[in-house]
Amino acid sequence: MTKPVLKWAGGKRQLLDEIYARFPESYDRYHEPMFGGGALFFDLEPGDGTINDTNPRLVNFYEKVRDSPEELIEQCRSFEHPENEPDPSREFSDSDRKAKDVEQYYYQQRALFNRRPYGDEYDELEEAALLLYLNRTCYNGLYRENRSGGFNVPIGRYSNPDWVRADEVRSASEAVQNTEILNRDFEYIIDRAEEGDLVYLDPPYEPMSATEYFTSYSKEGFGRKDQERMVEVAKELDENGVYVILSNSGVTYNMYDEVGFRVEVEGATRSINSDGTNRGEVNEIIATNVPPDDCQKAGQRGLAGF
Ligand SMILES: C[S@@+](CC[C@H](N)C(=O)[O-])C[C@H]1O[C@@H](n2cnc3c(N)ncnc32)[C@H](O)[C@@H]1O
Repeated sequence: MTKPVLKWAGGKRQLLDEIYARFPESYDRYHEPMFGGGALFFDLEPGDGTINDTNPRLVNFYEKVRDSPEELIEQCRSFEHPENEPDPSREFSDSDRKAKDVEQYYYQQRALFNRRPYGDEYDELEEAALLLYLNRTCYNGLYRENRSGGFNVPIGRYSNPDWVRADEVRSASEAVQNTEILNRDFEYIIDRAEEGDLVYLDPPYEPMSATEYFTSYSKEGFGRKDQERMVEVAKELDENGVYVILSNSGVTYNMYDEVGFRVEVEGATRSINSDGTNRGEVNEIIATNVPPDDCQKAGQRGLAGF
């Protein structure tokens, strides 16, 4: 059981027990095509299988965690003194020059992290370390990009942020040693998952209403069409004999109900009419094709989890 290294919006630590309750008694390989912070993967430590995300900088980060954990930790340690003067030869915005040193340092780090989307030369190991640094020092640990793909979250308020996280990096590195890490659209899973494998899908949630705040993880976003593609993917996986568990926002209830998935509402704070007419108001669903009789009795958690 490992903790996620990154804070990630939509992280699933709160929902782990409910997800485990849908796990089949046994399965072959485990795949997580929309990985983010990978809360379920790290808790489960499945070993063999694939993890994937469309965010290239996130994927680079996990590759470095897997292949060069000590170098990554060293690079993070080199950021040890944010109160130091930033390097005047490097780019950061004029408005931030007026702010305190620690802020200048943060915005300089952010500018360095944004070299890739703006077409500048960058070093993959440094980029990975910068992602961890920003994740632990930015506002609320959010990850948000502007239309050009630039990470644009402002500095957060922490009295003593820790971005080295050596123990977490080492444990996460162990957990992904035999895992294939991919940077594709989630549809790759149709070709990769085989009969008897288990796939957990956790997309960016569709907003419950037009006014609800929604975190955009990337410049591409994830719209209604992507949600519809995901239903098709889930259906095809089901036809191929692959176990599928997915979490999503309540507005997608009917989409999975209609293709024969078992859909249940989780964390609902508002009541639902028995005829389902108010389903659009519920918070979150878990949908699965694993029949109730095939589910594990006590979930997959090791004894330490109880
Ligand atoms: C809700 S988050 C996953 C959170 C994760 N379960 C956790 O515990 O942290 C959704 C992830 O899907 C990724 N994503 C968005 N569009 C995608 C796509 N078309 N294919 C694969 N991943 C995508 C985002 O970059 C984001 O990291």
